[in-house]
Amino acid sequence: MRFTWSKHVPTALVAGLLIAAFVSPRVYAQGDVTAETGFQKLKPAEDYGTVVIERNTKNIKTVNPVVFPHWAHRKGYTCKVCHTDLGFTMKAGATDIKQADIEAGRSCGACHNGKEAFGPFECIRCHSWGIEVKENLKIGEFLNGLPKDDFGNRVNWVNALREGKIKPKADLAGKEEMTVLDLDIEIPVSKFTPHPPGVVFPHKAHTEQLFCSSCHPGIFTQQRGANPEMNMMRIIAGKYCGECHGHVAFPLEDCFRCHSKPAPVPEWLKEGGKKDGDKESEKK
Ligand code: HEC
Ligand code: HEC
Ligand code: HEC
Ligand code: HEC
Ligand code: HEC
Ligand code: HEC
Repeated sequence: MRFTWSKHVPTALVAGLLIAAFVSPRVYAQGDVTAETGFQKLKPAEDYGTVVIERNTKNIKTVNPVVFPHWAHRKGYTCKVCHTDLGFTMKAGATDIKQADIEAGRSCGACHNGKEAFGPFECIRCHSWGIEVKENLKIGEFLNGLPKDDFGNRVNWVNALREGKIKPKADLAGKEEMTVLDLDIEIPVSKFTPHPPGVVFPHKAHTEQLFCSSCHPGIFTQQRGANPEMNMMRIIAGKYCGECHGHVAFPLEDCFRCHSKPAPVPEWLKEGGKKDGDKESEKK
């Protein structure tokens, strides 16, 4: 058989990924191999989900680009408040933000008005790229007491919400409730062999924070099995689940949080842990 790169490169990449899975700290935390030194070094907790906004400041000498930390905002607001109601795009640099809008109470200024949060004239708290700002929060103190996780901000945001440790608002006024859809969808992973455990997509954990239109129809056709182009490589490239996971929601290193459908137990293991072959040899 002729060796074709188009065939072998994806296979090698997936094999690499599987290795990454085993080097992840939950599965493999030994000696000098930890989350910090392993196959892929994890981002520090405070950098995960932190967006540098430089679309309109890149070429201005008088102000630094803006550093927007998701973690500092997730305690108080669901994704819906900013990405549905206020219309921020889920893509760094895609929203055209002008200082005049902020000072007029729009965009970041919908909250940064001196009442809901610090006001529009505390320039360096936002324009903080490359500088240390004393007034800004330290992630350690801020997220102390929230349920821990090995990845991302090192916080399990799903449990933080369900245990009532954070109470993010569904709208700015704090009047609405989220419309939660409790519907698990199994996404079988059988396009390649051998394959990892199947994926279970829980609508509940998503709709506790996101509005339907963040995913349907833009990212996913709203029908089971109707996204045939989806695969792990495209997810790593930032499509499908990778639009959020790897950017703001827990990262892709946490394989088994998505690939969570238990693999079927082989028949021989169910019957007392012995293979047919073993029984044969015992008889002799
Ligand atoms: C609440 C956060 C925040 C505060 C406070 C803030 N800015 Fe901004 N500012 C932004 C964001 C976000 C952008 C968009 C950045 C980009 O696209 O590069 C921006 C853009 C700008 C721009 C470039 C675009 C334009 O409208 O000309 C300038 C200049 C600017 N800010 C100056 C200031 C000055 C001066 C202050 C203090 C008086 C200030 N900013 C305070 C968030 C803030
Ligand atoms: C307080 C407002 C706010 C909240 C709450 C918020 N975001 Fe964002 N998000 C932003 C802004 C602002 C940007 C940058 C947009 C831009 O540059 O055009 C952004 C960018 C993103 C990006 C793109 C990141 C990148 O690196 O390209 C993703 C993905 C995202 N948000 C997902 C989420 C998810 C998921 C939630 C809820 C868990 C959430 N956001 C909550 C304001 C918010
Ligand atoms: C839905 C409300 C809301 C929106 C929209 C919002 N913020 Fe905030 N932001 C807050 C609150 C509340 C805090 C924390 C309270 C405080 O420090 O006053 C905060 C804190 C911050 C901090 C300080 C983080 C720290 O380390 O102390 C920065 C920087 C910041 N916001 C930047 C921005 C920028 C830039 C935008 C727009 C792209 C934005 N915020 C949009 C509500 C919001
Ligand atoms: C984070 C992304 C996301 C959000 C938010 C989301 N969905 Fe979905 N939805 C999916 C995915 C992924 C599928 C499965 C697609 C597939 O199997 O190819 C799906 C499938 C569905 C289906 C098809 C079910 C079936 O049996 O065919 C319905 C109906 C649906 N979603 C409704 C909703 C509604 C209503 C909301 C808001 C309350 C919502 N979704 C929010 C990602 C999302
Ligand atoms: C629009 C953003 C977005 C997209 C797209 C998205 N997710 Fe999520 N997902 C989230 C957020 C936000 C959470 C909350 C946890 C966090 O932030 O780490 C979450 C949580 C989860 C959880 C954790 C549930 C729990 O109980 O701990 C699973 C599993 C998950 N997502 C799987 C998927 C899969 C599989 C896909 C693609 C089919 C997907 N997600 C697409 C934003 C998204
Ligand atoms: C955010 C959820 C999520 C995480 C985290 C995740 N995957 Fe996946 N993965 C998926 C989805 C969804 C599919 C199914 C694509 C399909 O076949 O429709 C998939 C498919 C796969 C496949 C099948 C081949 C392919 O390209 O579709 C492999 C192998 C795989 N993942 C490996 C991994 C490994 C290894 C990790 C950890 C390093 C990982 N995945 C982390 C969601 C995830």
